[in-house]
Amino acid sequence: MCGIVGYKGNKEVKDVLIEGLKSLEYRGYDSAGIALKNEQGVEIIKSVGKIADLEKKIKKEKLIDCDMGIAHTRWATHGGPNEVNAHPHTCGKITLVHNGIIENASDIKEMLTKEGVKFKSETDTEVACALINYYYKGDMVKAINKAISEIIGSYAFAILCSDDDEIYAVRKDSPLILGIGEDELFVASDIAAIINYTDQYILLDEGEIVEISNDGYVITKNGRNVDKKVLKADISKEAKDKCGYDHFMLKEIMEEPTVLQNTLKPYLEDMNKLIDLSEYEEIHIVACGSAYYAGMIGKSLLEEKAGIRVVCDVASEYRYKKIIYDRKTLVILISQSGETADTIAAMRKAKSEGVDTLAIVNVKGSTIARESDKQVFIEAGPEIAVATTKAYILQVAMISLMAYKAAVSKGLEKGREVLKDFELLPRMLKEVLDRREECLKIANKIYNKEDIFFIGRKIDYSICMEGSLKLKEVSYIHSEAYQAGELKHGTISLIEKGMPVFGIITDKDIREKTISNIEEVKSRGAKVIVISNEVLYKYDYEITVPKVSDYCQGVLVVPVLQLIAYEVAKIRGCDIDKPKNLAKSVTVE
Ligand code: F6R
Repeated sequence: MCGIVGYKGNKEVKDVLIEGLKSLEYRGYDSAGIALKNEQGVEIIKSVGKIADLEKKIKKEKLIDCDMGIAHTRWATHGGPNEVNAHPHTCGKITLVHNGIIENASDIKEMLTKEGVKFKSETDTEVACALINYYYKGDMVKAINKAISEIIGSYAFAILCSDDDEIYAVRKDSPLILGIGEDELFVASDIAAIINYTDQYILLDEGEIVEISNDGYVITKNGRNVDKKVLKADISKEAKDKCGYDHFMLKEIMEEPTVLQNTLKPYLEDMNKLIDLSEYEEIHIVACGSAYYAGMIGKSLLEEKAGIRVVCDVASEYRYKKIIYDRKTLVILISQSGETADTIAAMRKAKSEGVDTLAIVNVKGSTIARESDKQVFIEAGPEIAVATTKAYILQVAMISLMAYKAAVSKGLEKGREVLKDFELLPRMLKEVLDRREECLKIANKIYNKEDIFFIGRKIDYSICMEGSLKLKEVSYIHSEAYQAGELKHGTISLIEKGMPVFGIITDKDIREKTISNIEEVKSRGAKVIVISNEVLYKYDYEITVPKVSDYCQGVLVVPVLQLIAYEVAKIRGCDIDKPKNLAKSVTVE
């Protein structure tokens, strides 16, 4: 969600910035812009739509010679996606790009308007730009410090000042790194933007201001120099490529067996490495979107197999609810990016109450990884497609393995069968993915439908939630997931002849009940597609996955639904890796 790149060095600045923006496209955006700067001044070019549109516009211009610039992809919050609202913004001597939301923008705007400042856009970003300009009296660091002491909200800023030849950057609750190359320096929202040039970077912490000049970089906080550790990114350049696949989504689905193997291996070799959740009387699992649906599977397993009381909630609700922490509680945050604003807020809420927090997270330097008390890392590598696939699978696998360990600790699980399933899971998943043709056949039957339902019970319902989300977000077909038994309390009136209904049946204890519900929709004309771990020979289409223990079943069913969603979106010609209006890492609430 919004992306920032800044560059100072000897390469063609516009090329570095455009390439960086392209690498940040996956975060989601609707307009983009660059600012180039030399001694004569600042040149700004903005465009609505794709980076390719910005590139076309840039090609038509005769640009200034320069060795520095900043660039931005904008996902509209304050003010619609148009050129005026696109970044960079300029006010007086200051030019700035911003990721985040300034909550007190209207108060600051009112104050500045009284001081005679005129605003051109509807954005909170222009307000921040004007505020820094207002406080700028020849010392940029002082002006930035004064401005951020008044700004409430989240921000990552990259800033130029027309009086000098430096880039300044600062952040709070929005990610920003300093990239260190040979005789060149970068700022960026994430390492993907600069990995083609350098893998050395520094994570900027809140309130730290970095000044990039011809002499190198200086980082200060409250006027004092700060020494920071230079880190080495562990992502390969290939991770940013589609490697022959048409889309990142497909590439990432196909990577699932490998990343699953890499994630599970250390724990299967030594289960002592894994946290024992049986120590806690109550667990709260908090996350957003797909990560929340992964958490729902964790809740079912922890309650049913390990007998632990679990609350599973979406972070945007949890953060504002009255939560009673009156037992020994652990709050588990699940997040691929580790930068989801609501999940961060939920984590901070738990921490402020003195409650233990554990993150199941992919991005190692992320805010959630750094601020949580304990971490379990999934080894998904970079996930570029906006719709999560491989990270979701790993989230489910890890929370399920933790539920298994808790059940063992409580003496509720014995023997090695479940562990054997976990060991064989990557291979079985590979076999499931090899059946892409069957998914394509189903996609061909449903791609032109307007509404689709997914029904299941208990864990199968959680699987439905993810299957339905995946389908609607990438194909734009309306779909809903329902608890199979709940359908006849209203929703069944929507079932029409020929409407596709996916039935998920893997839970042996409840299979007959789900089958009865599927019969109810079938008798009303629905085209039933069953994904199950047994062959039923009863329905219009069936895909059968290997039968494994309840702890592992979701990991084998959801990839089928991911592939169907992918194929449907492909037939419909959708922008699969960057669905409209969506952002990869949702850094605003
Ligand atoms: C859906 C999807 C989102 C994310 C959600 C949480 O395909 O990707 O629903 O799961 O935005 O993101 P993270 O896991 O980064 O906190």
